[in-house]
Amino acid sequence: MRTTIDRLMSGVYWSIHNRTKGTFVASSHVSRKASIGRHCWIRQGVEVHDNVSLGDYSYVIGPDTLIDEAAIGKFCSIARNVIIGPVGHHHEWVSTHPFIYSAFYGFVERDKPIPQKSAPVIGNDVWIGMNSVILRGVEIGHGAVIAAGSVVTHNVEPYSIVAGVPARQIKHRFPEEVRRALLELKWWDWGDDRLREALPCLCDVDGFLARYGRGTRPTVGQGADNGLLADEQGTLRGRFGEGYADRKGSKVQPV
Ligand SMILES: CC(C)(COP(=O)(O)OP(=O)(O)OC[C@H]1O[C@@H](n2cnc3c(N)ncnc32)[C@H](O)[C@@H]1OP(=O)(O)O)[C@@H](O)C(=O)NCCC(=O)NCCS
Repeated sequence: MRTTIDRLMSGVYWSIHNRTKGTFVASSHVSRKASIGRHCWIRQGVEVHDNVSLGDYSYVIGPDTLIDEAAIGKFCSIARNVIIGPVGHHHEWVSTHPFIYSAFYGFVERDKPIPQKSAPVIGNDVWIGMNSVILRGVEIGHGAVIAAGSVVTHNVEPYSIVAGVPARQIKHRFPEEVRRALLELKWWDWGDDRLREALPCLCDVDGFLARYGRGTRPTVGQGADNGLLADEQGTLRGRFGEGYADRKGSKVQPV
């Protein structure tokens, strides 16, 4: 239960953060333990818990968006009424009810941590449409689009568009050659100056790749560490995937 003092402290903490990091965190329900990058925008009515990292320039719209646990990249767009990384109950136990591990019901003296699947790992430049659910244990590749109303139960390839329940690939954003070039380019790691310079051709993927794509190596900018690692094919490995919760001090263990 959050006290008024806790809410006030959150308000003060985020207003200082907003001034120093150029963010706009409007919700007092964003944990002070969450790692929020530069220029992020989190609207009123969004709940963000402790073990969450959000990369630079990503934004989250409310109301009713909940990010329970996740490593999320830069330049992501997350719509309203989205749930990411909700905790699971154990359907293989005798009962799924929390009285087995929650002190609230009086059967155990102290809350016990229960095993959870790893937190979702979401790449850079991912758009998550409204009313979607991203379950635990999944990885969403860079540049992917999650259509409105999807439930993501499996990994999503970079630059693919998935839709439905469970979410299935409906198409890719670009042909394979373009996808590969963009993944190689990793424009999301560029500094602000280079992005500003590239701005006029960001609405034209062919023009953008013609100018920056053929063997030109961009200067890597200093953006915040978003906890994501990618190999040359753009396959994501969450540095915080397995055992991510541990890094932030939670007692929740991966299954
Ligand atoms: C995913 C999305 C971007 C695709 O847009 P698009 O490229 O114009 O796709 P199309 O309308 O051509 O649809 C392609 C196919 O996918 C299906 N499809 C599209 N969106 C779908 C969805 N949300 N759920 C299920 N199927 C969907 C279409 O029915 C179509 O199927 P068909 O080929 O059998 O007819 C769009 O449908 C969407 O979900 N946008 C999210 C909007 C949103 O949440 N905005 C929040 C503001 S941040």
